[in-house]
Amino acid sequence: MTIKVTLIPGDGIGPEVSSATQKVITASGAPIDWEIVEAGEACIAKYGTPLPEHVLETVRSNKVAIKGPITTPVGKGFRSVNVALRQQLQLYANVRHLRNLPNVPSRYSNVDIVVVRENTEDLYAGIEHMVGRNAAESIKVITREASERIGRYAFDLARKEGRKRVTIVHKANIMKLSDGLFLESVRSVAKDYPDIECDDRIVDAMCMNLVQTPEQYDVLVLPNLYGDIVSDLVAGLVGGLGVAPGANIGEMGAVFEAVHGSAPQIAGQNLANPLAMILSGVEMLKYLGFTEEAKRVEKGIEHVLLQRDYITPDLGGKAGTREMASAIIEAMV
Ligand code: NAI
Repeated sequence: MTIKVTLIPGDGIGPEVSSATQKVITASGAPIDWEIVEAGEACIAKYGTPLPEHVLETVRSNKVAIKGPITTPVGKGFRSVNVALRQQLQLYANVRHLRNLPNVPSRYSNVDIVVVRENTEDLYAGIEHMVGRNAAESIKVITREASERIGRYAFDLARKEGRKRVTIVHKANIMKLSDGLFLESVRSVAKDYPDIECDDRIVDAMCMNLVQTPEQYDVLVLPNLYGDIVSDLVAGLVGGLGVAPGANIGEMGAVFEAVHGSAPQIAGQNLANPLAMILSGVEMLKYLGFTEEAKRVEKGIEHVLLQRDYITPDLGGKAGTREMASAIIEAMV
């Protein structure tokens, strides 16, 4: 049975890395039927919005999508494509698997961390107002329901992936009610997972620990704002944007995408590193239950990175986006 997946190529380098990803994932043997739809800059001229309703409709009906980066339109009045997709599918968990890869330059080795970020509330709930002309307030929303839901997601993921420990990251020493509730809620969920160790760290201390000894961490679970910041920090520990995959997951579906943006400076030149998006595709294969196919792609990537003949300039090589993707396909067994 084939599975229908929406592919949104995106802007800038998006179409190049998306095409590379589509080829690699197809070559893995996974029975995927791609529905390719445009969103982003090209749609603004045609439809007056970067995310037309028919695109949302295919994502809603296929329930699984993979997207390239989308340039944030300059000027006000446009809905963010990422935020709109997140809301439509109630994608409450932002998940990044970040680990060192062979020959990808990094200050660290042996980092293998999953960052699980709550995606729907906290200061990102967008409740802001001016108080007079010279003061502004932003409201931080934390609920027991959303905190328990993300906690349960993190522990289920740890169990499924054979991971040992979940670390709750917070600032409950200062924000006793909001972060206190997050901490209490995730801790209450932890009781149902006696096989997984659970501890917690204050977010500032966590950042210092991460840059000193990142290899000691396994799964991190965080509210939205700290999650946004810490997930980029951890991406930096393993080699940065070119290799950081991402996923937004909810009960109604999932959208996979690389962490990087549309890199307009190098767009259309066959220079972009396709790995982050291909690795996002690997996460998608695992989500869909195509474990063998995912392993095949991972083996191909590892071979190409170890061999170094077909890697893009950001990794110190001379190969183009297309050549790197072809080499990964060649190396898949
Ligand atoms: P960016 O990630 O596009 O670029 C930052 C730097 O990393 C640049 O030097 C770029 O050339 C390089 N880079 C990024 N991805 C690369 C790849 N795959 N291979 C090789 N080099 C790569 O971030 P920037 O410049 O802040 O944003 C550009 C546009 O992308 C903006 O309009 C921004 O709003 C949008 N953006 C979209 C995202 C999304 O749709 N998920 C995420 C981040 C930014």
